[in-house]
Amino acid sequence: MKVLLINGSPHKNGCTFTALSEVAKTLNENSIETEIFHIGVKPIGGCVACAGCSGKGQCVFNDGVVNELIAKAKEADGFVVGSPVYYASPNGSLLSVLDRAFYAGKNNFVHKPAAAIASARRAGTTATLEVINKYFTLAQMPLVSSSYWNMVHGGKPEDVMQDLEGLQTMRNLGRNMAWLLKCIEAGKQNGIELPQNEFNNKTNFIR
Ligand SMILES: Cc1cc2nc3c(=O)[nH]c(=O)nc-3n(C[C@H](O)[C@H](O)[C@H](O)COP(=O)(O)O)c2cc1C
Repeated sequence: MKVLLINGSPHKNGCTFTALSEVAKTLNENSIETEIFHIGVKPIGGCVACAGCSGKGQCVFNDGVVNELIAKAKEADGFVVGSPVYYASPNGSLLSVLDRAFYAGKNNFVHKPAAAIASARRAGTTATLEVINKYFTLAQMPLVSSSYWNMVHGGKPEDVMQDLEGLQTMRNLGRNMAWLLKCIEAGKQNGIELPQNEFNNKTNFIR
């Protein structure tokens, strides 16, 4: 089983990465494979609502990160999305990636457990977590929680290393994710099938 950890920060080895690494280390200790996927520093455009992805499972803009993430999501069993807090929200590039990856490639995420984590110098973390969690709940993904809010604090990785409770929260998140993945796998082995949900009704509050 494999968890894909998405580092939404422009800093490849910054605070968000430090927090994600703590989750990954704990997942590894619990026999779960991991990969940290960095979205990079190139400008990333948002979804242009062209609907060109419809039925294709890929974004029409083959500009790297988004379709790469969609492909990696197919092979993953669970996700952790990490974001630095920018103006009390996830950073803009990460939101562009998530809008496009979930719109074009939602099927690769559905029913797989996920967690959001946030890194901030001081504030805006719970608002950031709320935004990321909404991608998961719209895709029927079970949310994995921890023993406190999924956040670390700092302006540089050394600060995060001093946030002992933040790191503890990351480790407990890793343990909870590993446990849930194993429960889902045990369910599969014992004939528990995915729910067959219905999607016929789509109304825009018109009628
Ligand atoms: C454009 C910008 C906006 C930011 N806004 C906030 C904020 O609203 N609240 C906060 O506590 N930190 C804010 N920060 C600081 C970062 O969230 C914080 O340093 C974070 O831990 C950096 O993570 P990283 O090293 O993974 O990029 C902001 C940083 C930038 C560059």
